[in-house]
Amino acid sequence: MKKLYIETYGCQMNISDSEIVVSILVNQFTVTKNQTEADLILLNTCSVRDHAEQRVRKRLREFNALKKKKPTLIVGLLGCMAERLKEQLLYEEQILDFIAGPDAYRALPQLIEKAANGETGFNLLLSEKETYDDIDPIRYANNGVSAFVSIMRGCNNFCSYCVVPYTRGNERSRNPKTILEEVEKLIHQGYKEVTLLGQNVNSYHWQEGETTIDFADLIVQVALVSSDLRVRFATSHPKDISDKLIFNMASHQNICKYIHLPIQSGSDSILQRMNRVYTRAYYLERIATIKRILPDCAISTDIIAGFCGETEDDHADTLSIMNEVGYSSAFMFRYSVREGTKAAEKFDDDIPDDIKARRLEEIIALQQELSLLSNKQDIGKTVTVLVEGISKRSENRLFGKTDQNKACVFPRGNHKIGDYIKVRITGCTAHTLFAEL
Ligand code: SAH
Ligand code: SF4
Ligand code: F3S
Repeated sequence: MKKLYIETYGCQMNISDSEIVVSILVNQFTVTKNQTEADLILLNTCSVRDHAEQRVRKRLREFNALKKKKPTLIVGLLGCMAERLKEQLLYEEQILDFIAGPDAYRALPQLIEKAANGETGFNLLLSEKETYDDIDPIRYANNGVSAFVSIMRGCNNFCSYCVVPYTRGNERSRNPKTILEEVEKLIHQGYKEVTLLGQNVNSYHWQEGETTIDFADLIVQVALVSSDLRVRFATSHPKDISDKLIFNMASHQNICKYIHLPIQSGSDSILQRMNRVYTRAYYLERIATIKRILPDCAISTDIIAGFCGETEDDHADTLSIMNEVGYSSAFMFRYSVREGTKAAEKFDDDIPDDIKARRLEEIIALQQELSLLSNKQDIGKTVTVLVEGISKRSENRLFGKTDQNKACVFPRGNHKIGDYIKVRITGCTAHTLFAEL
């Protein structure tokens, strides 16, 4: 059988998509971790920031040397960069044999066959319906404990800075029956945790006859498959996070008490310009409700520094909302203008790089303090962790995650990967909890 080397960039959706791709190609290729023995190299790419694209272009340069040595090597580029840059990418990056967008993976066998005959090809069609729901993803690179399950694709929100609605197409939900079947299979394979994935899982919607299923219903159905299965989800748009979901989280012990709720900015005028369609006050009300109903819930976020027109006051609003919420962790980015988006068309990317950098540094420094504070509050608590692997630093220690999605390191004892164990938190850094059995 031929060998496939695949690299994945970008979000969890892309990790999940690569598992779908490996499944589509399973009759022709086995996955290798060694790029030099590959017959086919695939890069599943991200366009969300310019930096993400530059990394991929650099990687393609590196593969040039491989292709010189082995002219039969086929190199294909998948994902959001293909969809954003279209055929032009085949001219810019001569090494590429084909490109395929996120809804075109069923066409990969044909594209590969063409490439083997010396023809370049592309398939960039976006679909109204494709959810790959009949394809059984092959989790070729995970720990056998925790798996992603895609429940929807695309995005209709058109936040003004964001390229995703253009690269991933319109929002569509996957049939709940196939979601539940996939979860059951995972349990039989020994998995202990699933993360339900979508760009905005809270707008999940399935209609069948008289009944409609929303995300709050779906997550309960998944949680009920097995009480031994932990259920997580990502990502949530603040506009759609319902009381019903928060109550359902409270009434099911195996739905993890952790919500990723991207704020992007703490300033109302920036939020409006971003087309986030909520205000600071609305967001804080959602946080208050979460904290009231789920007192132990950890909340994390995404923040963009230096969006168009951001003043020092706007930036101060972002810092203050971070303090008010007390995030347990955050992904923080400097604004990167994306051609074709509303922000690129309507607003000036007017914040100089050094100011963007300074603001981002301030946000990162504050989050470092908040993460440490959040972790310190756990010291002395006894919590359940799901063992995911052996610590990189020591054979005698294991690592796993708490319900609140915090990384935790603890002595090995007689435990093994996949066990749930109770540990007592004894110390921490901003990024890791340390515990004893
Ligand atoms: N659907 C998810 C986000 C997906 S993109 C959500 O809405 O929560 C992940 C993060 O990348 C976004 O939350 C945002 O913080 C960041 N991002 C998106 N476009 C960006 C841009 N043009 N520049 C910088 N960061 C960006
Ligand atoms: Fe992008 Fe907004 Fe959609 Fe998230 S919700 S993927 S930030 S457009
Ligand atoms: Fe990137 Fe596409 Fe995900 S742009 S963040 S890989 S949806």
